[in-house]
Amino acid sequence: MSNNNFSDNSEYLSREQKEALIKQKGRVIWLTGLSGSGKTTIASYLEKSLHNKNIITKVFDGDIIRKGLNKDLSFSNEGRMENIRRIAEVSKQFVECGIIVICAFISPTKEMRKIAADIIGKDDFVEVFVNCPINVCEERDPKGLYKKARKGEIPNFTGIDAPYECPENSDITLNTNETTIEEAGKILLNYVLPKIKSA
Ligand code: ADX
Repeated sequence: MSNNNFSDNSEYLSREQKEALIKQKGRVIWLTGLSGSGKTTIASYLEKSLHNKNIITKVFDGDIIRKGLNKDLSFSNEGRMENIRRIAEVSKQFVECGIIVICAFISPTKEMRKIAADIIGKDDFVEVFVNCPINVCEERDPKGLYKKARKGEIPNFTGIDAPYECPENSDITLNTNETTIEEAGKILLNYVLPKIKSA
């Protein structure tokens, strides 16, 4: 092959070349927590805050992804595992372009979150526990789903008749019943900024 100044043995541009172009380091900010814990609101806050700092992001949110890419998947353990596996693979592709990926998925088990971290790679994976007691999530019930689940209309609902395993070693925990969403978002922003900006 001719010397074309491109690194390594690939025909394609490298991650480093793309990261250098946009002056950011690709990372996945992975939000895990119960339905109603505040994942979507925090993801939205973080996306806007980073955008205001000229940082390019992509949000993947369970509610949206499950209407499109993953609409064939159930909420059984297997369905959720495949949901997380696919989105981790997609996220990895974005990370290789230097993009900050914000994922908002319940991702209820340690095994699922490990699968995501293993696919993405530990160095590029920031696990954020959006922590809120189930009774508070149920009181908030922004989509009326807990009410339906209690009536037996949604089987395998996380926290009711399907498990949520709290993370024990998250990079950061946001207690959304003790802070406002804005405060939680600011804490997260300050935590992630040093990890994603390059000079
Ligand atoms: S995950 O468990 O596979 O990570 P995901 O984040 O994609 O879940 O989707 C969760 C969203 O799907 C919830 O916010 C809720 O709106 C909806 N949903 C529908 N059925 C269920 C269910 N059985 N358990 C939890 N969420 C459900």
